[in-house]
Amino acid sequence: MASPFVGYREMASEDISLKVLHVATEMAPLVKVGGLGDVVGSLPKALKKLGADVRLLLPAYPNLLEELQSRQSAKPIGKLYIALNWRVYEASVYEFDFNGIPVYLLDQPELYSDSVYPQRLDCASVLPFALLSMASLELPNLIDWTPQLIHAHDWPTALIPILLRWHRHYSKLSHSHKAILTIHNLAHQGILPKEILPSIGLADEAFSIDGVEFYGSVNLLKGGIIAADAVTTVSPRYSWEIQTPSFGMGLDGVIESQKHKLHGILNGLDYEYWNPATDQFLPAIYSKDDLSGKEKCSRALSERCGFDDGRPIAAFVGRLVEQKGIDILLAALNELVKMGFSLVVLGSGHENFEMALEEAAAKLKKGLSVHIGYFEELAHLIYAGSDMLLMPSLFEPCGLSQLIAMRYGTVPVARAVGGLADTIIDADGNPEGYGFLFSNPSPDELLKCAERAIAAWSEEERWRKIILRGMSADFSWDRSAKAYAELYHQLLGSQ
Ligand code: ADP
Ligand code: GLC
Repeated sequence: MASPFVGYREMASEDISLKVLHVATEMAPLVKVGGLGDVVGSLPKALKKLGADVRLLLPAYPNLLEELQSRQSAKPIGKLYIALNWRVYEASVYEFDFNGIPVYLLDQPELYSDSVYPQRLDCASVLPFALLSMASLELPNLIDWTPQLIHAHDWPTALIPILLRWHRHYSKLSHSHKAILTIHNLAHQGILPKEILPSIGLADEAFSIDGVEFYGSVNLLKGGIIAADAVTTVSPRYSWEIQTPSFGMGLDGVIESQKHKLHGILNGLDYEYWNPATDQFLPAIYSKDDLSGKEKCSRALSERCGFDDGRPIAAFVGRLVEQKGIDILLAALNELVKMGFSLVVLGSGHENFEMALEEAAAKLKKGLSVHIGYFEELAHLIYAGSDMLLMPSLFEPCGLSQLIAMRYGTVPVARAVGGLADTIIDADGNPEGYGFLFSNPSPDELLKCAERAIAAWSEEERWRKIILRGMSADFSWDRSAKAYAELYHQLLGSQ
C-alpha cells in the first residue's frame, strides 16, 4: 500500500503558531449527518494538541442552541449585520467551549432550522449557507481575533474563497486570510441559477469559465476550488481519482487544472470517542488484550436482531444512497445469507433503498435485520458486535466506517476505491493484511470477496490475527493533523 502520508515531513509541535477558523455545517457529536461531522468534530481537537489556535463557526440550529442554553454553556457575545439578498440580516453570535476550542454559533431564526441541508437547493435555500460564509469574514469585527486561515468544508462553505476573490466588499479582505477548501464529497457541488450572483454581491467577472460558471449555472464547489489558496481531499487516492472522468463528477478538468494546489490528506478517527475499551454505549468493553467483551457485544447484537447463533455477522452502517453501493448490496443479500451470514443494516437515505431493504428483511427473516434511521447507540453495538463490515461503495472519498470497524475488531470487506483502498490491506494478498478488498463494483465481486472473508473467519487463529492487526493499525488524527498544520504553514509562508 502506498503511504497515505507521502510528502509530509514530521513537524515539531513547538513550530506551530497558527490561527485557524473552521467553518462548517456539522460537528460531531453535536450535529452530524455523516463523516464530515466526524471530521469537523475531531480535526480541530488534534490541531489544538499541536498548539494551534483553532476555532469553529457553525449555524445555531434551534435544538442545538436550546440544548446548550439549557445547560448554560452557550453565551451570547454580540450581533453581526450582514448584507445579503438585498437586505441586511441581523444575526446573533453565541460562544461555547468544546474541549477547549471556542465554537461560535450563528443564530438567525429566519434562516436556520433543524434540518441541516435543504431538500432542494435554490436561490432561497442557499441563503443560510451564504450567511454562514459571510459571517466567517465578519466575525473578527466582533471577537477581536483574526484567523490567518479560514478552512471551509464542502459546497456549503465553498463560498468563502469565492467571496475573498470576487465579492464587491469581502475581496478587500483577501490579504488578511488564506482560504482552504476540503472536498469531502464531490457528489454535492452546490449548483444554483445564475440569478443568485447579484444577491450574494459577486462581481460579474465571477461568472466565467475560470470562476463559478458551470454550464450556464453557478457551481459553488467549482468556484471554491478555483478561488481557494489550497484544496484538500480526504484521502490521497481520491485526490487523483477526481482528476479522471469516472470520479470527477464533471469537475475533473477543473480539478486537474488546479492540481498544483491539491493535497490528499487522509482523515483520522477520533480515538477517544471511538474506543471499545471505554465505549459507554456497549454492553461490554474490550481491547486487543482481551476480546471477551466483543463476544458479549456479539451476543447482545444477535439477540437484538433475532439472529441464529454461530453464524458470522456482516453489517452495513451508512447513508442509504447510491454512493454506498446499496444496489450492489441489495443484489447480493440472498446469496450472502445462503453463504452463511447473518446480516444487519443500519441506515437512512433514499426512500426506494429503505423500502427495498425492508422488503428483503421480510423475505429473509432471521437472515437480515434492517434498522432504518440514525441511531448512534445501535451503530456502536453493530461496529462492536459484528464480524465484518460490508462497504461496496461506488466511490468513497475517505470513509470513516471502515476505520471505526477496524478499531472495534470488525473486519472490512470493501471495494478498493478512494480512502478504502488507502486504509485497508487485503489479508489474502498480504500477510500483514486486515481486510478484504474487491475491484469492480458488482454483486459478483462482492460475493467472491465475502467468500474469501468467510473462509478466513472459519480458521479461528488466522481470523484472530486479522482482527488484531486491524485493531493495531493507527488511523488516529496525529499524523493527519500534522499534515494539515504543515500545509497551513506552507500557505502562510507564501503570504
Ligand atoms: P459518509 O460521510 O459518506 O456518510 P463516512 O464513512 O465517512 O461516510 O461516515 C459516516 C459516519 O456516519 C460514521 O461515523 C457512521 O458510523 C455514521 N452513520 C452513518 N449512518 C448512520 C446511522 N444510520 N446511524 C448512526 N450512525 C450512522
Ligand atoms: C464524505 C465522504 C466520506 C468521508 C467523509 C468525511 O461524506 O462520503 O467518504 O469519509 O465525507 O470526510
